[in-house]
Amino acid sequence: MIRINENYQKLKASYLFADIARRVNAYAAAHPDRPVIRLGIGDVTEPLPRACIEALHAATDEMGQRATFRGYGPEQGYAFLREAIAQHDYAARGCEVAPDEIFVSDGAKCDCANIQEIFAQDARLAIPDPVYPVYLDTNVMAGRTGANVDGRYAGITYLDSTPANGYVPAVPPGPADLIYLCFPNNPTGAVATRAQLAAWVAYARENRAILLYDSAYEAYIRDPQIPHSIYEIPGAREVAIEFRSFSKTAGFTGLRCAYTVVPKTLQASDAAGQGQSVHALWNRRHTTKFNGVAYPIQRAAGGGGNAARPAPTPPRNDILKRPPQQKSGGGAPPRAAAAVSPAAGQEQTRALTDFYLGNAKLIREAVQRLGFTCVGGDNAPYIWVNTGRDSWEFFDLLLSRAQVVCTPGAGFGRCGEGHVRISAFNSRENVAAALERIAAALR
Ligand code: MLT
Repeated sequence: MIRINENYQKLKASYLFADIARRVNAYAAAHPDRPVIRLGIGDVTEPLPRACIEALHAATDEMGQRATFRGYGPEQGYAFLREAIAQHDYAARGCEVAPDEIFVSDGAKCDCANIQEIFAQDARLAIPDPVYPVYLDTNVMAGRTGANVDGRYAGITYLDSTPANGYVPAVPPGPADLIYLCFPNNPTGAVATRAQLAAWVAYARENRAILLYDSAYEAYIRDPQIPHSIYEIPGAREVAIEFRSFSKTAGFTGLRCAYTVVPKTLQASDAAGQGQSVHALWNRRHTTKFNGVAYPIQRAAGGGGNAARPAPTPPRNDILKRPPQQKSGGGAPPRAAAAVSPAAGQEQTRALTDFYLGNAKLIREAVQRLGFTCVGGDNAPYIWVNTGRDSWEFFDLLLSRAQVVCTPGAGFGRCGEGHVRISAFNSRENVAAALERIAAALR
């Protein structure tokens, strides 16, 4: 009989959020008269910004016309979106990122999960604890760890994030090759200062390591001193890959659009010790395994998520399909992507993140009034509450007494024990009701 990938047997039985969903669904089915409010998984609830909707409609109409219909697009993303990202998300912050260093994809989760496969099997990993489970699980699946003993996999350098270090881990004493970092952090909501990030870049340069920097929540940063991108740190272009997402920025969890930046200056060594371009490897992987994000979705991302005003980019197969005079996007031009100005899209997405941060502030204040300490919620949509109690017990207590779903900290790692994560992604009404119920349940 064919054999399975044994590494999967080292994993916990199910993915954290699937596990929570199962428990919550069971509770809801058993108590249909007690509606549950979900502040667990970080899934957005508010409608898409107007600019995104308008771009989405316009692009869908284009797909209904022969002259503007598009089939396969470039796997790495349309130039209009990559250029807008380079300009708005990087150049505007003084970071040097070229459009062709940006790979548009259907999710930062997938990119964070897949990136490990371009690196050696024996790469030494450093992973925070608590952590977004995807970084760890995908390396377990790939066979880069030993067995799980007492909640920790052999072969990983865990970067403890605790009250003692403000939930921002320092560089480890020993060497590592691949280091996962996430700021603003999921699950803690903690942010790293410029000095802390500079220490990580210095460590990576010294150890010839690569930082895998997840900044999916950067749009929530309000403190002007906090860097939004690892490339704000000098020297990062030689040692860092950055992951970004439109999910939490512009409400795209259901639409799916994200991007990964792989600088052309980033190298990793082959078995002979020769430097190889990581950009070339990721490009090879991406073009082999991915066929691009749907055109209307990229237009929506360009319309709302950043400054994109797309020039009509000819489809990749134009040369085969169209008469010669139409090769450069001639014929009936696609309708302008964003009927609204790009600035309006930026304003609308800012309003969306402001809204969730308003929820976060209410949550922070409420848990502090209840006597708990917490971090996050000021530059992040997550509040990490130090409950001082078993985190699954606390989860069960909130579910059964308040019908509120949070995420138990232990699900994110050993250092998450004693904590729960409360997400600010919900309507104001639901957040207010949840906080009242929590206060009553803990009274
Ligand atoms: C979370 O709740 O941690 C996130 O929604 C998970 C994700 O973005 O995949």
